[in-house]
Amino acid sequence: MLNVALLGYGRIGQMHAENLFNHSKFNLLYVYDKNYKLALKSKNKFKNKVITNYKIALNDKKVDIIFIASPTPTHIKFIEESVFFNKIVFCEKPLDLNISKVKACIKKLSKKNPKIQLGFNRRYDPGHFQLKKDLKKKKIGILQKIIITSRDPAPPPINYLKESGGLFKDMMIHDFDLCRFYLENDEIIELSATASSFTNFYKKIKDHELASVTMKSRKGVICVITNSRQSSYGYDQRVELFGSKGMLISGNQNTNQTEIYNSSSTSSKKPYLNFFIERYKDAYKNQLNDLAKFAKKNIKPRSVFLDGYKALELAENANSSFKLKKVIKTS
Ligand SMILES: NC(=O)c1ccc[n+]([C@@H]2O[C@H](COP(=O)([O-])OP(=O)(O)OC[C@H]3O[C@@H](n4cnc5c(N)ncnc54)[C@H](O)[C@@H]3O)[C@@H](O)[C@H]2O)c1
Repeated sequence: MLNVALLGYGRIGQMHAENLFNHSKFNLLYVYDKNYKLALKSKNKFKNKVITNYKIALNDKKVDIIFIASPTPTHIKFIEESVFFNKIVFCEKPLDLNISKVKACIKKLSKKNPKIQLGFNRRYDPGHFQLKKDLKKKKIGILQKIIITSRDPAPPPINYLKESGGLFKDMMIHDFDLCRFYLENDEIIELSATASSFTNFYKKIKDHELASVTMKSRKGVICVITNSRQSSYGYDQRVELFGSKGMLISGNQNTNQTEIYNSSSTSSKKPYLNFFIERYKDAYKNQLNDLAKFAKKNIKPRSVFLDGYKALELAENANSSFKLKKVIKTS
């Protein structure tokens, strides 16, 4: 069994705690959250220890993995400390909001050969991953276009939004990463971004309600990403790969597969699965399977620290493109 210390017991931390607890390869040993009362709630459910200082976990030789699910600005500090204590690290996306901090971290850790998996869960979605396998098998010939639609059913809590770092770094980071996942050794060379808000709230916190980015790769693949923080019909998650010999689609998932036909409508389907915890349920489990293989057999996971850095770089460029109203050359 791999002993895990979970840092952060909020929205995603609670889900990870449950998945770790139910996984045969992991033992959820410690939970740490700045909000001790909240962390205490894990104890009855998962029989873990709740600690008031995360250094207890770092100093405990029994702990194999530090699992970081705390707010983004804490990630780099926790990664660096964990690596210096020779722990394997899982870290939620994004790595940080400040790319200079990430660059400095790469330098600091370069001699340690750290084992860090990054929480880009889309790579682990069975549908999105199947597209990659089909693409590799040349089922659509040569890849020409990647089109990703990602719309949240509702915005996250206000306090989260204020600290999130903005749509490009917090939300679209998944889609930047997914484009890179399909492009493999091809790379993005130019990027253009636009964004908009229909409510004053987003303007007040200097963020956007919706945004689109168009990117071009060295080989000429066009990537189109479109995001919204709110979607009246639910969590909209679609990926389309268009190639010289066809198209691949990984579509939305409904709560069940039945359809209603009556006098007022035809082919009316059930609502989409609510949000990321439901829609990417399998992805989060596959991600943990990868973490277990990484820790036990040193098999490289689908998403690592460098992917976090590269996606953050694209998000930075998207912010610049929006501000400067111009196409940015990214390499
Ligand atoms: N991969 C995904 O699908 C996904 C989805 C949601 C969030 N996330 C990422 O996960 C991270 C957490 O997001 P969330 O939605 O769970 O946020 P959240 O605000 O719900 O939870 C964060 C928790 O961390 C605690 N915390 C604050 N400072 C801390 C510290 N210094 N040490 C330990 N705990 C601390 C807070 O008390 C809170 O309970 C963010 O980086 C976010 O981008 C990833």
